[in-house]
Amino acid sequence: MCGIVGGITKNNITPLLVDGLKRLEYRGYDSAGLVVLTSKNILQRVRAAGKVVNLENSISPEVNGMIGIAHTRWATHGKPTIKNAHPHICNNNVGVVHNGIIENFLALKTQQQAQGYHFTSDTDTEVIAHGIHQALKNCDTLLQAVQQAVTLFQGAYGIGAISPKNPGHIIATRSGSPLVIGLSDKGNFIASDQMALLDITKKFIFLEEGDIADITLDSVTIFDKNGKQVEREIKISKLKSGQVSKGEYTHYMQKEIFEQPQAIRDTLESRISKNKVLTSAFGHNAKTIFQNTEHIQIIACGTSYNAGLVAKYWLEDIAKIPTHIEVASEYRYRNPIILDNTLFITISQSGETADTLEALKAVKKRNKNIHSLTICNSAESSLTRESELTFLTHAGPEIGVASTKAFTTQLVSLALLSVAIGRCHNQVSEQQEAVIVDGFNQLPNLIAKALEQEDQIIKLAKTFKDKFNALFLGRGAMHAIAMEGALKLKEISYIHAEAYPAGELKHGPIALIDKDTPVIAIAPNDELLDKLKSNLQEVKSRGSQMIVFEDETSNVMPMDGMDIIPITHNLGRITAPIIFTIPLQLLSYHIALIKGTDVDQPRNLAKSVTVE
Ligand code: F6R
Repeated sequence: MCGIVGGITKNNITPLLVDGLKRLEYRGYDSAGLVVLTSKNILQRVRAAGKVVNLENSISPEVNGMIGIAHTRWATHGKPTIKNAHPHICNNNVGVVHNGIIENFLALKTQQQAQGYHFTSDTDTEVIAHGIHQALKNCDTLLQAVQQAVTLFQGAYGIGAISPKNPGHIIATRSGSPLVIGLSDKGNFIASDQMALLDITKKFIFLEEGDIADITLDSVTIFDKNGKQVEREIKISKLKSGQVSKGEYTHYMQKEIFEQPQAIRDTLESRISKNKVLTSAFGHNAKTIFQNTEHIQIIACGTSYNAGLVAKYWLEDIAKIPTHIEVASEYRYRNPIILDNTLFITISQSGETADTLEALKAVKKRNKNIHSLTICNSAESSLTRESELTFLTHAGPEIGVASTKAFTTQLVSLALLSVAIGRCHNQVSEQQEAVIVDGFNQLPNLIAKALEQEDQIIKLAKTFKDKFNALFLGRGAMHAIAMEGALKLKEISYIHAEAYPAGELKHGPIALIDKDTPVIAIAPNDELLDKLKSNLQEVKSRGSQMIVFEDETSNVMPMDGMDIIPITHNLGRITAPIIFTIPLQLLSYHIALIKGTDVDQPRNLAKSVTVE
């Protein structure tokens, strides 16, 4: 999604802006731009379609000033062209960058055109530049103009604005889109994501909904949505700048796949002790909330949704609580029946996914007698702020657009949750809990062992070079893992992939099977293994190429055109979905490498989807 960086320093800001934009590249974007206020008090802008490096190559020596704002744009309104790239400028007097969507932009555009404003782009953002410009006519300061203009905007925004009329000030505001302020000896900064500024500072202020900040070289003054001056806490980020580099790996995705043993260790740390899951790890009042929980509703998107699908099996199986799950973008636009004593769980890597966040807000308005928990990888995010309980997945920064370690740490967190709630409902005996906790402790080594299959998987990946379709099969919770495998393949290799519960194949999709459609099956040694083996026979007899990832004890019968890869052995109902995810991630990664796609920033995708 779009990214914002801005700042005011004692030296030329341009290199810092470019560097910040590069750090935001992982979010996904298709054009970039920046504007600085020069020593002659002129707005100097440069924009480019495509990568930040194109922008960098277009910067001339005149683009030099101590104050500036910059942007990476992920197109929503208008194509990814130079004219639509941010910053947008009105009459050489106001420059703005914007994340989010102004929903009433058409109405505002008509009004502004009637006032004589000329539009040079197809974006919704341009109405912000004109709106601030109009307000500035009657205001002494840019701050006042922004305070006045934002009352016009409906939708979501994170905005940075500068003006020659009020040099030395950046005005930043947010509503529905994240924005942080970075404080340092070099000056003060803004960004849509703290990652952009980690090389400059670790000191951040996270703006709250509706806040407007007036930022100068040596001061930050914040006003809340009612215009009242407020103090916001300064937080010290624990993220390290090195955590966002590729190190010895070729791609972030590859690094993140191999980081999973450590990410899971970190997620388990301080959450289990002496054969027990610590309920208090979910929050000081979690025990009471869990004891009173009668229903669970999970809401998430994409990979996080797939994690929730697995959790439904665990929560019903282990905790015996009726659990529903739905994608957030659907849930938020219908009128669901929300029963009292529902625990509403959101799952999100970024904590900023607009659909998930808005669904949570809507639910909280509709029924006051529910509790909310977020399983999130970002401590200072909109979802953690909006939720009563937060459980952080300690995956560390995930930069590759295709989610990997966030998914497996979400699964670990949801498994811990299932045990914690199960115990609060007397559904989990001490003995059962000890067995499950032992499984948690084995996870890092089991994952390391699964990663050892990489060479075999590379050989298999080569057979996908010319394929256009693939089918993933699993049963029970493994269907959700098959869905995650199919999603990964689609995202980074652009091969069309579908996942089916293996027993459903004969009800239609089996018609798709031919020698050009590889079928990937997951075969843990569980109560559904025999049924799955019959399903595999049905597929094989239709002549497809098959890859089976099995538990060493599953003993799937070898057949012509079938590759069987044993992953490890005697996995339990919690460990199996987590471990079988690993070969699917590796398979997608190596297929993408062979196809030569942009693995870390696949086309059309964004890391953090902050628009609907
Ligand atoms: C898939 C992927 C996306 C995200 C989805 C939700 O690899 O990354 O499907 O899972 O956009 O994002 P979060 O988890 O940040 O809410």
